[in-house]
Amino acid sequence: MKFIPYGRQSIDSSDIKEVVEVLHSDYLTTGPVVEEFENKIAKYCGAKYAIAVSNGTAALHLSSLVLLNKGDRVLTTPNSFVATSNAIIYADAKPIFVDITRDGNIDLDICIDILKKDKKIKALYCVHFSGNPVDQDKLQYIKKKFNIKILEDCAHSIGATFKGIKAGSCKYSDISIFSFHPVKNMTTGEGGAVTTNSKKIYNKIKALRSHGIYKTDKMKPWEYELRELGFNYRLTDIQSALGISQLKKLDSFIQKRQELAKRYDKAFKNISYIKPLYSYTKNSAYHLYVVLIDFDMLKITRKELFIKMKKRDIGLQVHYIPINSQPYYKKLGYKDKSTPIMQNYYKKAVSLPIYPLLSSKEQDYVIQTLLELCR
Ligand SMILES: Cc1ncc(COP(=O)(O)O)c(C=O)c1O
Repeated sequence: MKFIPYGRQSIDSSDIKEVVEVLHSDYLTTGPVVEEFENKIAKYCGAKYAIAVSNGTAALHLSSLVLLNKGDRVLTTPNSFVATSNAIIYADAKPIFVDITRDGNIDLDICIDILKKDKKIKALYCVHFSGNPVDQDKLQYIKKKFNIKILEDCAHSIGATFKGIKAGSCKYSDISIFSFHPVKNMTTGEGGAVTTNSKKIYNKIKALRSHGIYKTDKMKPWEYELRELGFNYRLTDIQSALGISQLKKLDSFIQKRQELAKRYDKAFKNISYIKPLYSYTKNSAYHLYVVLIDFDMLKITRKELFIKMKKRDIGLQVHYIPINSQPYYKKLGYKDKSTPIMQNYYKKAVSLPIYPLLSSKEQDYVIQTLLELCR
């Protein structure tokens, strides 16, 4: 059996065909296919505007420059990839790590308590962890009551819904961001996007994506103006062609991920020491399938399990090491003791392989091997 990673892309001949077509065309970088991809992303998510960028971190960076001011305090989760909170620091603002709930998402009730007391909180960055959206009713309440800026990090959750609200629609947020890294729900190789319903945010991010340069119809044909300091965070037509092709299959990818999640849930139903992070929900896009393993009940440690599974050609991962325990954040004075549920979660969390091309046979092999090694 070939190696089974915890996540991987699903590319077929139709993806390859679309990319090759662009390679034969006039534009390779930012041409008509980028715009087409942006329109399709906006439509899929139900947002007014989308801007394609070079990766999810670039999307977070540009969004933070638009949403935040120097010194702003921003509520965010320790249960994410470091890019989420790093972006707050890129804008000279200060992340405040809020503990998580049992499903791995930021605890919005704690956020509400903090917002009642601390008027210096200017924004909330939430992550729909593993593809399971945070409670949109609570997000709506926060937006209305406290009128802060809200960013939804949808890197895990393109294709997810909450009571009919699509992740990335920005119904109760200012901006949503996406990553199209190969392990995500759909890929462009490297890539990312921002969605928003604000024309002002759209125009600003679009300019910052390309150095901060503006061009208008009134200018002479060669003229352009640098009005602010931006970056080259552009996505290419080649990548966008792959994105368009992947987007066509996204719903079927999510369906497959949900089926795999159901099969895992069933397999662990009567196992006392392995618990799915949350019971099955159609809301989740299941970018990750996380189980909590009670290693105190077992002879094997998590490290031994990782090594032994790898010897059997199975890749596991942990999502995530608490961001506030990273050396960089510790040096800034952050303490992971402030988020005890996250700490406890981190001791038990293991991500099992989940991706559309994972066959039932391969999944059964993962389940059997895991149970055998834990027994
Ligand atoms: C939650 C989250 N946010 C942001 C990112 C950053 O995306 P990218 O790797 O495309 O820069 C990732 C990527 O792993 C992520 O998982």
